[in-house]
Amino acid sequence: MRRKVTKAIFPVAGLGTRFLPATKSVPKEIMTLVDRPLVQYAIDEARAAGIKEFIFVTSRGKSALEDYFDHSPVLEQELRKKGKDKLLETLKATNMESGAIAYIRQHKALGLGHAVWCARRLIGNEPFAVMLPDDVIAAEVPCLQQMVEAYEETGGNMVAAMEVPPEKASAYGVLDVKEDMGSIVSVRGMVEKPAPEEAPSNLAVIGRYILNPSVLSNLNRMKSGAGGEIQLTDAIAEDIDAGRDVYGYRFRGQRFDCGSKAGFLQATVAFALARDDLRDDLSRYLSEIVQVDKAAQ
Ligand code: G1P
Repeated sequence: MRRKVTKAIFPVAGLGTRFLPATKSVPKEIMTLVDRPLVQYAIDEARAAGIKEFIFVTSRGKSALEDYFDHSPVLEQELRKKGKDKLLETLKATNMESGAIAYIRQHKALGLGHAVWCARRLIGNEPFAVMLPDDVIAAEVPCLQQMVEAYEETGGNMVAAMEVPPEKASAYGVLDVKEDMGSIVSVRGMVEKPAPEEAPSNLAVIGRYILNPSVLSNLNRMKSGAGGEIQLTDAIAEDIDAGRDVYGYRFRGQRFDCGSKAGFLQATVAFALARDDLRDDLSRYLSEIVQVDKAAQ
């Protein structure tokens, strides 16, 4: 039996400058997708995959995020008194078990690899997940759960992977594929944000990882890479050089890049259309404005 993956790291120290001025006082992870903060989607996905310990790597100005995960007895009492059971249930579903969440500060913005490394003492010597909340994945079986199931068969390190248009590959970590087995590919190398002519493929890393503690050891020695930052991709690639397996997992689902405004808007529409209470009004409105737009052309 493989050791179960029960810990996940959520790197959330970024300044979210793409969403200024909103992110001047609100952490990006708290911004709402329909009616839930972005980070709640990642938490729910992690829980579905069996994660029990949630490690947030934060930075200055993220205290609203910590408050969000606190229980809210006053609000709960008020809702109970007013008989608003449905809202009470919604609220309770966000409550986390005592001691399940830890916060670590990343004191300097030295890159994703460094953010993950900051959590090393809380991980110890067991496999762990990394989830980037900006990557929101709509899926019947939540993405990390799919990966945990695949990982139980393969072991090694595993990254979520998705084909992107070749001209977009340089915005991602990109896989150099050794063997393509369909939903799983074995990897012979990984490059972070390659120059367009140097991309080994258009199979990009998406922000879900299952990693071995050896990657944290690699990060102990990691020098800065692409963009002058300490890259998680480089630390995983080093594991391949050390003879350990790395797999890309083509997940079933739709990924939204909520680190960009266009992606955030698309996710908002998609998640709203998936909701019984919003679908009719929204789709009517969307078809109206599309018709008006067509008529104007
Ligand atoms: C990070 C990773 C990159 C990955 C991407 C997925 O990049 O470094 O390898 O492809 O997330 O969203 P970032 O988007 O933070 O620049």
